[in-house]
Amino acid sequence: MKAEGIDVIDLSVGEPDFPTPAHICAAAEAAIRAGHTKYTPAAGIPALRKAVAADASRRTGREVTAAEVIVSNGAKHSLHNVFTALLNDGDEVIVPTPYWVSYAELVKLAGGTPVLLETRLEDDFKLRPEALAAAVTPATRMLLLCSPSNPTGVVYSAEELAALADVVLEKNLAVVSDEIYDQLVFDGRQSVSFPTLRPGLAERTIVVAGVSKTYSMTGWRIGWTISPVPLAKAMGSLQSQETSNPSSISQYAALAALEGPQECVAEMCQAFQKRRDLVAAGLRALPGIRIPEIGGAFYAFFDISSHLGTSYGGKPITTSVEWCEALLEAEQVATVAGSAFGAEGHVRMSFAASEAKLTDGLARIGRFLSTAE
Ligand SMILES: Cc1ncc(COP(=O)(O)O)c(C=O)c1O
Repeated sequence: MKAEGIDVIDLSVGEPDFPTPAHICAAAEAAIRAGHTKYTPAAGIPALRKAVAADASRRTGREVTAAEVIVSNGAKHSLHNVFTALLNDGDEVIVPTPYWVSYAELVKLAGGTPVLLETRLEDDFKLRPEALAAAVTPATRMLLLCSPSNPTGVVYSAEELAALADVVLEKNLAVVSDEIYDQLVFDGRQSVSFPTLRPGLAERTIVVAGVSKTYSMTGWRIGWTISPVPLAKAMGSLQSQETSNPSSISQYAALAALEGPQECVAEMCQAFQKRRDLVAAGLRALPGIRIPEIGGAFYAFFDISSHLGTSYGGKPITTSVEWCEALLEAEQVATVAGSAFGAEGHVRMSFAASEAKLTDGLARIGRFLSTAE
């Protein structure tokens, strides 16, 4: 539709709409000129692994060493490394829903079995410790956590995570803690890194993070894991055979991101918080639409179930996919159906768009709701 010149408001994207900060781009240019255009160690240049460790140590208060860090081609690649290194065929991985689309597929690619565990909007889409304990079987190997969450924007408190940590320790599970949005939190929240919550968690937790969201660097493809050293070594070997190092130039850019001025992060976060206010108020004002409390990231995940069973232009709207298609057709607003995140009856809209676009998008959604029969 865009190619046909139609005015589509795209609220489907999973990346910040800001440019990569200029000093980071300049560092990449300097890296090229300095000849950093060859292979690097497969697990990343030592300076970047050290910078990731220093940044994590400073922000979480937990001593992290460079040997625990493996730098990969984006956090998605990091997740692949974790699952491939740790899972045996049939190992179960508990994935709370709604979940980020790639988790279940990456687990399956590694021979594991994703066990989708439903959370409810009434609980702000947070996994309750009793539900986790009840889902554990002898085959359960791992729990996947994502806070701040894509797709819901929900942020767990330290107490809520600690309650889950107790179950994790009791049931002897590994944890993948996807903390890629950890610096995009609102209302003065402090994001909490899972392994800091209880003694004994660092030995069983793999933190996944990267520069994609924090520094608006999705195209540069730099992510990382922080894990116990033996696992880091295994993932380094795997990566060495599968892909070798992530782009040398991007690694120097990521180094500049971590070691350079951090005002850009605060500025982006403030902009997202303002947009969150706009979007949360706008969605709450719409008939029958419900959302959880959005504490971070840049997504609103809203319940449209009271609008299913309607129709648009004679076509029935019975699923979130049909709802999104009808919205696109009627008002040219692109969103993502909740079924993609394992949560039918919901829709994700990104607020990584200008306030003008968001205001227009919300008005169009409101109009669509009033015209669907
Ligand atoms: C929760 C979550 N984890 C991981 C990723 C992957 O990040 P990257 O682009 O660094 O591979 C994303 C990207 O959308 C994400 O939302």
